[in-house]
Amino acid sequence: MENIDVLREGFEKEKESCASVEDVEALRLKYLGRKGLLAQLRKNVDFKVLSPEKRGTFGKEFNDLKTLMESSIEAQLTTLQERMVAKKLPSIDMTLPGSGHTLGSMHPVTLVRLELEEIFMSMGFVIETGFEVEKEYYNFDALNTPFDHPAREMQDTFWLTNGMVLRTQTSAVQVRALEKYGAPMKMIAPGRCFRYETIDASHENTFYQLEGLMVDHNISVANLISVMKLLLSKVFHREVVTRLRPGYFPFVEPGFELDIQCLICGGSGCRSCKNSGWIELLPCGLVHPNVLKFGGVDPDVWSGFAFGLGLTRLAMMKYGIPNIRLFNSGDIRALEQFTTAV
Ligand code: DAH
Repeated sequence: MENIDVLREGFEKEKESCASVEDVEALRLKYLGRKGLLAQLRKNVDFKVLSPEKRGTFGKEFNDLKTLMESSIEAQLTTLQERMVAKKLPSIDMTLPGSGHTLGSMHPVTLVRLELEEIFMSMGFVIETGFEVEKEYYNFDALNTPFDHPAREMQDTFWLTNGMVLRTQTSAVQVRALEKYGAPMKMIAPGRCFRYETIDASHENTFYQLEGLMVDHNISVANLISVMKLLLSKVFHREVVTRLRPGYFPFVEPGFELDIQCLICGGSGCRSCKNSGWIELLPCGLVHPNVLKFGGVDPDVWSGFAFGLGLTRLAMMKYGIPNIRLFNSGDIRALEQFTTAV
């Protein structure tokens, strides 16, 4: 019996000094292993000399000690393992406020583009993209603007060393689309254009246009006007008063500037419309026969209208953005205002 007490005390003491899982495993082996101290104790007892009563007491004490050792070793292991995990984990203060997520937002030009695409798709137009790096042929020649045409001077062009251009207008998609679809056809081509402009509040070297082209039998100016009016009323969610002025573009004949009555002052004159009551928005016209020919479409059978809407300018008007530089400036505060519009 005394030996049992000695063993218990020794075990308790050694257990206290166990600092690692390995220490505890060694302790287990020492006391509970097959040749451990507990097994030895049992072996050394001569049961024959013990009275049955003492034998019973010894058995009970012995078993109690074994159970105690086993359970305290398990408990010690659990504590040590938990401590190890806790050391690896960063401490977490559950009372701190969360870091939160900032939601991105769509660029105002993207919002207007998506809206226009929706409107035109509902009228059966297909959407083309074309290329931002374009052949001189599609950007100029095929648009009835040959090498020596003075209208080339109207667009300050970025030329690449390999003779390609950064497209100056989405009109470059017109002949590509005619080649692809033939006639009849209806397409729009929204996209980015580039010009070597001096930047000010309303001019940028990078801007967005949306080209439109419809070719069919007997297309007239009346078709052009009705589609433009429908488009504008849907974009601005109200009837807009329009007027047509003659305008020159080599790829249309006749060519027009379609103005809308100023939506801010209603036509009486204000700063936005430079006191004229009108805002220049949509250059357009009937497709020049040469352009149809370049696209492989017979101008004696087919006719069409085209327009080139300034997407960037439309976004400025729709959202009241006073300075074009805000669009590409990378100042996130300008874009954050559109979070709710997504
Ligand atoms: N591409 C012209 C420009 O950027 C705009 C334009 C005018 C497009 C008349 C057209 C059009 O399709 O018919 O100045």
